[in-house]
Amino acid sequence: MNLKEKIIALKKEKNAVLLAHYYQRPEIQEIADYVGDSLGLSQQAATTDASIIVFSGVHFMAETAKIINPQKKVIIPDINAGCSLADSCPPEEFKKFKETYPRHTVITYINCTATIKTMSDIVCTSSNALKIVNSLPKETPIIFAPDKNLGNYIMKETGRKMLLWDGSCIVHEAFNFDKLLALKKEHPDAEIIAHPESEEHILKTATYIGSTAGMINYVKESRVKKFIVGTEVGILHEMKRKVPDAILIPIPVDEDNTCACSECAFMKVNTLQKIYDCLKHESPEISIDDNIREKALIPIERMFQLS
Ligand code: 13P
Ligand code: SF4
Repeated sequence: MNLKEKIIALKKEKNAVLLAHYYQRPEIQEIADYVGDSLGLSQQAATTDASIIVFSGVHFMAETAKIINPQKKVIIPDINAGCSLADSCPPEEFKKFKETYPRHTVITYINCTATIKTMSDIVCTSSNALKIVNSLPKETPIIFAPDKNLGNYIMKETGRKMLLWDGSCIVHEAFNFDKLLALKKEHPDAEIIAHPESEEHILKTATYIGSTAGMINYVKESRVKKFIVGTEVGILHEMKRKVPDAILIPIPVDEDNTCACSECAFMKVNTLQKIYDCLKHESPEISIDDNIREKALIPIERMFQLS
């Protein structure tokens, strides 16, 4: 048996489900039981009847699955699969910031640690952020963390003012504006689509802004067949699968970037071999202190109610 077949057999033997984010390597997406965006993945984690969840994504995603599902074993292929956005919000500093504004409702993007979630009133993802902010009365003062770019986008779309935490995603901030303009000039028939973690000047050029699932759906529904794609390149796999004749061009990145395309190094640490090993040894396992888990669940459940 090859590695893919071995993983499929082990999944069956152990009643395990493999959840993968759209930024995962193509070969992982091909054998996953579910591939999705952050909201879809957390909804799958909440409803699965598998005994083991293998989460091929980054740490905060697997951690969220464990918060939702404490009785299940949640394993991750590489425990070091972090996230620059989650790292940009250290709990001690955020606690002080929050204490300065005690009357504010705290909305946090799901890309944060469990400890930050314990300090949140509502969690959101890029696919429900506008809905969640709009569900609060207009006069409610809001702190939004950790992504300032998503926060700015929400403020623009909803016309509301929010206090923003100064965090960002290194992948979406590496997009090069001048190269993007040159590329658009070269391909005037291409539409620019972008993830709201991108900076404002990039978003201004886009005809569609949305979560990874939203972007895939837009490509699927559109009559246009050429797109400049403003998010992590792993998404191209599912776009190509859904629309085989689409021409998809990754958004150009800065020269000093370690990778020539928009790859998230954290997402890409996961490999088929690591998935096989973690499923075989049921390790590394996500474990969360009960006190933190119970508090972090409250804002996630609010998100589910409002989604
Ligand atoms: P979504 O898949 O929810 O759009 O999130 C993108 C992302 O950056 C995940 O880390
Ligand atoms: Fe974090 Fe950005 Fe990677 Fe998503 S793409 S996991 S936000 S560093």
